[in-house]
Amino acid sequence: MAETGGLFGAEIRDEFQLSKELVHLNHGSFGSVPRSVYEARLERMKELEICPDDWFRYNFVLLVTKGSETVSKLIGSSSSENVVFVENATGGITAALRSLGLKMQSKAGLLVTGLSYEAIRHTAHKVCEIEGHFVLHTINLDPPYKDKFEVVQRYRDYLSSHSDVHVAIVDHITSPSTLLLPVKEIVSVCHEFGVAVIIDGAHAPGQVEINVEDINAEFYTGKSCSFFLYFIVNYVFGLKVISGT
Ligand SMILES: Cc1ncc(COP(=O)(O)O)c(C=O)c1O
Repeated sequence: MAETGGLFGAEIRDEFQLSKELVHLNHGSFGSVPRSVYEARLERMKELEICPDDWFRYNFVLLVTKGSETVSKLIGSSSSENVVFVENATGGITAALRSLGLKMQSKAGLLVTGLSYEAIRHTAHKVCEIEGHFVLHTINLDPPYKDKFEVVQRYRDYLSSHSDVHVAIVDHITSPSTLLLPVKEIVSVCHEFGVAVIIDGAHAPGQVEINVEDINAEFYTGKSCSFFLYFIVNYVFGLKVISGT
């Protein structure tokens, strides 16, 4: 694979096959993969066509294992066993919610934000409807803020007056408002109130350093359009969701 570490913008332009006739401004909704990734992908597809039986029985499993080891190093997870691939970011959130729902007392509050991605808000709403475990709450995170502590304070104020909230979905980088939220501090406040956190890190990999163990959320789901990787990290421990208090 070509060595491209640390380069951005024009310096890395030739590594992508994007048309030079256009100025591509939206790399969030759909991504183009670097040439080296594109070529590696073609190789894998060729291997599959040459011997599908071998591919699905053996090669695929080995590649997924290797992939989760690579991703876990990138996101600061000490074990690749905490990292799995999911179909997309929405699927990661759904999987997290449904697994938490199994441990949930009925009518537990599920907190999203006014800036949550539309599909995630719909997912949260649908999970509330289908599973019947959750009641949807929305915290107002509209700017302006003086500093990151104001955002954290909004969580403290909200959770102080809504003790039924058991789970919060928090964006790492909001879409399309593009705010970088202080997720580590928000997780810490949520944990003070016994609230489990699912971080929606859809836009974070590749844009900001991620250390999931430092952030300390129960789940972190992220995607990298450029590499078509989706992952979710799960290390649930004794919060309201488990204890049912
Ligand atoms: C913040 C955020 N969360 C979730 C998603 C959904 O991602 P996916 O289409 O991979 O499910 C997006 C899509 O851009 C997003 O911006």
